[in-house]
Amino acid sequence: MAAKTPSELRSARWFAPDDLRSFGHRSRMMQLGYSEADFRDKPVIGILNTWSELNTCHSHFRERAKDVARGVLQGGGLPVEMPSLSVDESFTKPTSMLYRNMLAMETEEMIRSHPLDGVVLMGGCDKTTPGLVMGAISAGVPMIYLPAGPMLRGNYAGKILGSGSDAWKYWDERRAGNISDKEWQGVEGGIARSAGVCMTMGTASTMTAIADAMGITLPGASSIPAVDSNHQRMGADCGRRIVDMVWEDLTPDRIITEAACRNAAVVAMATGCSTNAVVHLIAMARRAGVDLTLDDLDALGRITPLIANVRPAGKDYLMEDFYYAGGLRALMKQIEDRLELSCLTVTGKTMGENLEGAQVYNDDVIRPLSNPVYAEGSLAVLRGNLCPDGAVIKPAACDPKYHVHQGPALVFDSYPEMKKAIDDEHLDVTPDTVMVLRNAGPQGGPGFPEWGMLPIPKALIKQGHRDMLRISDARMSGTSYGACVLHVAPESYVGGPLALLRTGDIVRLDLPNRTLDMLVPEDELATRRAAWQAPEPRFDRGYGWMFQRHVTQADQGCDFDFLQSDFGRTAGEPDI
Ligand code: FES
Ligand code: MG
Repeated sequence: MAAKTPSELRSARWFAPDDLRSFGHRSRMMQLGYSEADFRDKPVIGILNTWSELNTCHSHFRERAKDVARGVLQGGGLPVEMPSLSVDESFTKPTSMLYRNMLAMETEEMIRSHPLDGVVLMGGCDKTTPGLVMGAISAGVPMIYLPAGPMLRGNYAGKILGSGSDAWKYWDERRAGNISDKEWQGVEGGIARSAGVCMTMGTASTMTAIADAMGITLPGASSIPAVDSNHQRMGADCGRRIVDMVWEDLTPDRIITEAACRNAAVVAMATGCSTNAVVHLIAMARRAGVDLTLDDLDALGRITPLIANVRPAGKDYLMEDFYYAGGLRALMKQIEDRLELSCLTVTGKTMGENLEGAQVYNDDVIRPLSNPVYAEGSLAVLRGNLCPDGAVIKPAACDPKYHVHQGPALVFDSYPEMKKAIDDEHLDVTPDTVMVLRNAGPQGGPGFPEWGMLPIPKALIKQGHRDMLRISDARMSGTSYGACVLHVAPESYVGGPLALLRTGDIVRLDLPNRTLDMLVPEDELATRRAAWQAPEPRFDRGYGWMFQRHVTQADQGCDFDFLQSDFGRTAGEPDI
């Protein structure tokens, strides 16, 4: 069902005309060793590869890009690999989130400025999924997302280890003096032992599941472990399929509709998603012109049971188990009646058609609706005088005794200040204390770091406590857990009410009613507000300077204001 003829290919604008510019383009393709038969009248497919030697999660991507290229050639296209900004989660400081929008800008501009008819986006480590997808949505050419896939289960001394979650857990035990140096080193060597993204249901697997549920990956691709040969075959399938998508003119605006975004949100909730999903999903949806809000997500959260028994929200399993249990297609099949099945996907078929035949092979890993891990609400959105524009909490990952809680605040203005205090064994803190970190939001962090799972003070750890109510305007890792209120908006750095809170003020969380307040009289708050002084800007030049001027708040998705689709007319095709 070709909708396009060779002369209508985008790349034909570069290669077809009989003029001096096209002469230049063709002669330069020949410089690369291609004959005209290699590139004329053929879809040119960009393989946007976020590989780097410091991106531990994408270490298989050099090889995988070759699998994609093989598929593109077989499909009758010309593959061109394009190295893309590799935003890795492990090493990027102060936080990879500072660079998600940079990747989105790079992706959009590199696609638009080059003779590409379609793209395969290779990502997976947390920010790479939203970064690549946001940019590609704005660029508008046919695209398919190739998720890196989770790494194998961690293993040490016969124990299964989950990315992130078990690192925090064993770290607390080490601080409590319960494990030896040798055991600690064993955990270090066993917790990440193959290529691939974190294998808990952290941000990476949440975001790739979201891409899958949106219909922009091959069906179920997000669940395949990185080192499984099915992943190689999926890579080649992406290559073959994108060529057809170009001929069919199957552009992202036909796939990423409002219904597709809602499907993605429902699936995210059913997987027990990372809180980061909120920020990224809103940003991605808005690029597609869909106005998804925090309240929409809260409403979906209330009616969607968590059925993926995968850590950290689930108790027992990891992504490898999830794949063997049937993977995302099986999960989506379970909640089929909550999804819009008529959505078009990259296969050219509907979501409903893609789910045909999907089956659960282990119903303890992918639970039936009658036996969920958690009946409702992977995520909840709070409001109140501490967070008028919202805050986020993950009820399923915190001790239920904190769902309704009132206690005195212990406020820290910076991460180093907090870090110093928590190791003080005489810190004035009780299990009722509400620990608060501010100046850790999009501008204050800077870049909205994953500091939100504030460490439990040593004084409490020694007493055997492993959870407490914590509040910040930061994010937290998708592999984190605990009674952590995050993404407080507006952030304190720009004068949000969190900036007015003082140590000793009483804070009240009422999760069933979705409220978070400081019990401080209004006139006292007004006095404090009048005395508040805006902090110094974090940056005086460079990318950070641009970031702080243009990043939106957490409830808006933290895109740059000028990149949002409603900011202005999208640049058309470049003059050649
Ligand atoms: Fe890459 Fe967790 S560090 S996904
Ligand atoms: Mg992470």
